[in-house]
Amino acid sequence: MKRTKIIDLTGEKIGQEVVVKGWVKQFRQNRFLIINDGSTINNIQAVVDHETMDASLLETITTAAAVSVSGQLVESQGRGQSVEVLVNSIEVLGTADPEALQETILQPKRHTLERLREQAHLRFRTNTFGAVFRVRHALAFAVHKYFNDRGYFYLHTPIVTGSDAEGAGEMFRVTTLPFNDTPRDEDGKVDFSEDFFGKETNLTVSGQLEAELGAMALGQVYTFGPTFRAENSNTSRHLAEFWMIEPEVAFNDLNDNMDLGEDFLQYCVNYALEQCKDDLAFLHDREVQAEKQKPQNERNELNLMDRLKFVVDNDFERLTYTQAIDVLLNSKPHKKKKFKYPIEWGVDLQSEHERFLVEKHFKKPVILTDYPAKIKAFYMRLNDADEQGRETVAAMDILFPGVGEIMGGSQREERYDVLKAKCAEAGIPEEEVWWYLDTRKFGTAIHAGFGLGFERLVMFVTGMTNIRDVIPFPRTPKNAEF
Ligand code: 4AD
Ligand code: MG
Repeated sequence: MKRTKIIDLTGEKIGQEVVVKGWVKQFRQNRFLIINDGSTINNIQAVVDHETMDASLLETITTAAAVSVSGQLVESQGRGQSVEVLVNSIEVLGTADPEALQETILQPKRHTLERLREQAHLRFRTNTFGAVFRVRHALAFAVHKYFNDRGYFYLHTPIVTGSDAEGAGEMFRVTTLPFNDTPRDEDGKVDFSEDFFGKETNLTVSGQLEAELGAMALGQVYTFGPTFRAENSNTSRHLAEFWMIEPEVAFNDLNDNMDLGEDFLQYCVNYALEQCKDDLAFLHDREVQAEKQKPQNERNELNLMDRLKFVVDNDFERLTYTQAIDVLLNSKPHKKKKFKYPIEWGVDLQSEHERFLVEKHFKKPVILTDYPAKIKAFYMRLNDADEQGRETVAAMDILFPGVGEIMGGSQREERYDVLKAKCAEAGIPEEEVWWYLDTRKFGTAIHAGFGLGFERLVMFVTGMTNIRDVIPFPRTPKNAEF
């Protein structure tokens, strides 16, 4: 008989014979076997008549064992579930050594998230990570659905590249040259012409530059792929390997770009609210319990469900970087010298400033635009200088409660001469980006796009506070286990 997934064991199937396969969560009183198969956060209870069952078989049924049970689906006598299985037969597909189990997180008790991370190969089995990764899947699907439904083309940009799209120099080198015997040129420099690709290459930090080339022909494209940053920031919001979504749209200006970013984020959150009800309800309760352990002044003002609905129901606050600096200069924490980092026009905003704007001042997602040219990437479109001669670019960052910067984008510099000058200023050799510059020579047009950090979105939607807990196998400085 074919197995039925737990998610499909609904009231309509009452009276039918079913086969359920999954992992044992608990086996109480040699009678109540609680099974989960990953299809849903909900377990199924299988009721065993131990009088008629082989005792030696029952002994092998422990927490974490894989089992197959068959029996009749009936209305549940107990509370907490609507249906249960009256067991006819059980097969133990894979036992779990009770002694070894003691050392694992499969042991049914509370474990810290740190400990769960050390056993990332097993943490999928926990309720929390089952929920997180089902939500992650739903969000990935929502991303593709959003763009597909709107006529965007999914463009696969390369993972190995020869360029530094963000100009930040935080790249992982890709090479097949031997470490101990690297070929050198006459000046003693490494001779990359001998390397696999005949030039210096690295893992991509962004698919944007290539996506722009696509947009200049296909009109609207998006990428969704792995991205690598060798920045040594060991924070709860940074990964060395993360996934980024980057739409790029011909003929869009900064305003269109903001509209797209806001609509897209609201769509994704709404999709999760509709499609992941049980998992989000679980994550919500989990957070409510955790909040109770915290001192009053450290608690979230809004709980998970409220935060999600809040993003869907409210327009994002839009203001320029210059206006944000004014808000910050007039703020209480600034006047009381509570900020660690200084505020003045021209500095990059720190997360303490971003959090103040989002969580304390506006109390909603914020889109900041028109940042100083000096602190942003070379490809962003240069604005006309303001009355004081200050130079800004048509950039936009979207800031979310809890996660800070969730999205960053801009209108792109479409003017050949300006772009060429900006490359030179940024120290980017023309022979590295000649192909990028070329699109500005042949039918250039205004265009814009952004990058959404997928894990930051998953953090926001699940309420998880460490980015390592929303990607199956996190890659961070000094950590590439599993
Ligand atoms: O702001 P970033 O660096 O922008 C770009 O890469 C542009 N090329 C995007 C574009 O315009 N097409 O990165 C975009 C987003 C950030 O807002 C953040 O959410 C996420 O990517 N991000 C990271 N997420 C996890 N770990 C890291 N180390 C991240 N760095 C950036
Ligand atoms: Mg950014």
